[in-house]
Amino acid sequence: MPLVDDLSDPLPEPEMSRRRALASIGGGALTVAGLGTLVTGTRYMRPNVLFEPATRFAVGRPEDVPLGGVLVLPKRRLFVSRSEGGFYAMSSICTHLGCMVQHQEGRSASERFFCPCHGSRFDIEGKVVGGPAPRPLDRLELSIEDGSLVVDVSRTVPHGTLI
Ligand code: FES
Repeated sequence: MPLVDDLSDPLPEPEMSRRRALASIGGGALTVAGLGTLVTGTRYMRPNVLFEPATRFAVGRPEDVPLGGVLVLPKRRLFVSRSEGGFYAMSSICTHLGCMVQHQEGRSASERFFCPCHGSRFDIEGKVVGGPAPRPLDRLELSIEDGSLVVDVSRTVPHGTLI
């Protein structure tokens, strides 16, 4: 067994390889800890911002919606319709339990929308004509700006509102 003072003597081979192994393990652990600190620090420095989709957006031009027709926008979860009196926008979220109401092309105006979850039916103005839905489809604020129909899904308007 070499003395502490006797560092000039070469270590026996098993002692040398054990030191190298411990040095490698220690170096690897420090490297992993350093990388983890770097990644965590970098993520901490970035702003934690949640980007939400805009609630107010253009959906098309008035001439895109024929009289008595429905513009279906499934990604926006809304319908835009045109009647004799003007345009209106409705949410396509069922007022029963929130399923997506389906537009039934070719059906009469009195049964134009159908909810596949529990069978609620709505007429072309969004009024309930059957099923468990407790109230009409929400009517959304709609305006015409620079020749485009603009919907604000964060604001509801009284049923029957037209522009
Ligand atoms: Fe539409 Fe129940 S969620 S009828």
